[in-house]
Amino acid sequence: MLMKERLKAVQHASNVCADIEGFDFDQYDSRDIDDVRKYWLQYGVIRFKKTRISDEQQVKFSRHFGEFVIHPKQLQEGGHPVHPEILVISNAMKDGKPSGAMGNSEATWHTDTWFYEKPPAGAILRAVQIPPSGGDTYFLSTYIAYETLPAVLKTAVEGRQIFFQNVYDKTGKLRLGKVEPKSRDFREWSGIVHPLVRTHGETGRKALYLGGTVDGAWIVGMSRDESDSLLAALWDHTINTEHVFVQQWDEGDIMMWDNRCTMHRRDSFDPAFVRIMHRTTTSGERPV
Ligand SMILES: [Fe+2]
Repeated sequence: MLMKERLKAVQHASNVCADIEGFDFDQYDSRDIDDVRKYWLQYGVIRFKKTRISDEQQVKFSRHFGEFVIHPKQLQEGGHPVHPEILVISNAMKDGKPSGAMGNSEATWHTDTWFYEKPPAGAILRAVQIPPSGGDTYFLSTYIAYETLPAVLKTAVEGRQIFFQNVYDKTGKLRLGKVEPKSRDFREWSGIVHPLVRTHGETGRKALYLGGTVDGAWIVGMSRDESDSLLAALWDHTINTEHVFVQQWDEGDIMMWDNRCTMHRRDSFDPAFVRIMHRTTTSGERPV
């Protein structure tokens, strides 16, 4: 009897992502899921090319990787009509209102909801409808960011903690990148303290944890200026890396990333075109 062929992971030159080949979303077993999990942990980002799956299949598949994070109601957008587990990221308008989150704008480098006590462990993002160009998504590894730190920066981050300001604004929208913090005085912030270098609970590897804003972060115990200049150096080192994977989407593509050891960003795109992505998110532990 022929043995069923198992999955294969084909790593990209960026050293950040691998394509998973041979996974059948209509028919898989626990060994296949174990393999996907193994590759997800190994590479940080994995891709399934041109799948043809339903929303229901996405939810069912995602369930194997943990509890769902249900997107906060406060966003008032991005809800899926049938599956609360799915966040709709879309610039399409329906009855004069956004039918999904984020519009067509650029998203700068971040990990997802870094200012939560327990940021998500993983995200599974599927392209439902894509524009002819633009809207590419970029990934980098925060393991590599940590491991390649110059000695002086590695010493500077040792044992440090970072205070992240909660960056939802009054309307419930997420603000990314270089934003004006609510106050320059971090003592007035509401937010969360996390380790600046976190140790992944499953792989044991160390990753730099910068969250998603420069201005809305403070390295605990430093003066504001010291903290700003160290953070600027860490951001500069992290995002100016050759180890970036660029995902140019085809319909049906799925990117699955480990939010504990990666960052991502997104290009803007022409608002005349519709881009619809469906994301499921799995819960994570408090960073240590
Ligand atoms: Fe994100």
